[in-house]
Amino acid sequence: MNILGIETSCDETSGAVVCGGQVRSNVVSSQHCHAIFGGVVPELASREHERLIVSIVDAAVTESNITKNDLDVIAATAGPGLIGAVMVGLCFAQGMAYALKIPFIPINHIEAHIFSPFINEGSGHNAPEASYVSLTVSGGHTLLSLVAQDLSYKVIGRTLDDAAGEAFDKTGKMLGLPYPAGPVIDKLAERGDTAFHHFPRALTSQSQTSKSYHGNFDFSFSGLKTSVLTWLQKQTPEFIESHKADIAASIQEAIVSVLVEKTISAARSHHLKAVSMAGGVSANSALRKAMKEACDKAGITLHVPAALYSTDNAAMIATLAALKLSRGMKAEHRYNIAPYASFAAGARYASLK
Ligand code: KG4
Ligand code: ZN
Repeated sequence: MNILGIETSCDETSGAVVCGGQVRSNVVSSQHCHAIFGGVVPELASREHERLIVSIVDAAVTESNITKNDLDVIAATAGPGLIGAVMVGLCFAQGMAYALKIPFIPINHIEAHIFSPFINEGSGHNAPEASYVSLTVSGGHTLLSLVAQDLSYKVIGRTLDDAAGEAFDKTGKMLGLPYPAGPVIDKLAERGDTAFHHFPRALTSQSQTSKSYHGNFDFSFSGLKTSVLTWLQKQTPEFIESHKADIAASIQEAIVSVLVEKTISAARSHHLKAVSMAGGVSANSALRKAMKEACDKAGITLHVPAALYSTDNAAMIATLAALKLSRGMKAEHRYNIAPYASFAAGARYASLK
């Protein structure tokens, strides 16, 4: 089965070809036009996707060494995401499938992140054999899910306000860092002191509401943002400039420690021995290190896709389509599927079918 995957939910235009369950190509173009605005501008994102979609898909097919006529199925993100951005890839994919007279599969972007450990570059996938806890941490989402052996899944916690990626990006902006600030904070924090300042960790054992945190797998990062802002307002520009790495390391530590504590606690309370991480923030080196150490200590195995599959990519879209087909899903000759913006609107909490 030769599957073309297309992803345009935010600011990455991506096309990938998966043949027989293996990734043959994964072309990703990240939009840089948003940097001067300090965040993704939805209308600009849609226009960039429109400008690039033909050449990205062409490159993905060419790199895979098959032709368009060899494709059996096309899959694309139908949501959640920026509605105009999703629409570009979704309409293009459905139009192309219709023209080629092949079926189309709509994919939920968050589900694609959850199942990204199944991405197989040729030497097998890196997904747990048994049930696992999945942490999905991106610019728009932060959620914990339980994935059962039959690949049904259930969301057990999510952010009540901002996503972890947003906490990185917005606090980074306060520090004068360019967008997206997540990778910049990651790099800067390497030479900073994580104990320089203690920023709050909401809904954890260390928070003031610690009595209610047990068994609560929800997240909250908006308080951290406010705390960073009010603390920075009390410092002089010279102090901030000379301690940028320490502040970055302290902010990163506050985010990472919450993510690790909640994930390990979810695995423990559900008696699971495997954890996976996906989404842009899971590329964070401190998170990878801290999660690995915590998993080792708890006797849990950690499964993370390669960093290039942590951030948005079409290989995860085509891979999830392949997984669904291998589990009996019937791809339809239906080309009028509408995009959706929010996770709840398109999430299938129960099953991959
Ligand atoms: O999954 P993704 O590529 O797109 C969304 O679906 O949102 O995630 C993008 C987010 C951004 O907030 C970015 O700052 C963050 O992932 N990110 C990182 C790192 N690399 C990307 N955050 C922290 N450390 C990183 N190394
Ligand atoms: Zn994503």
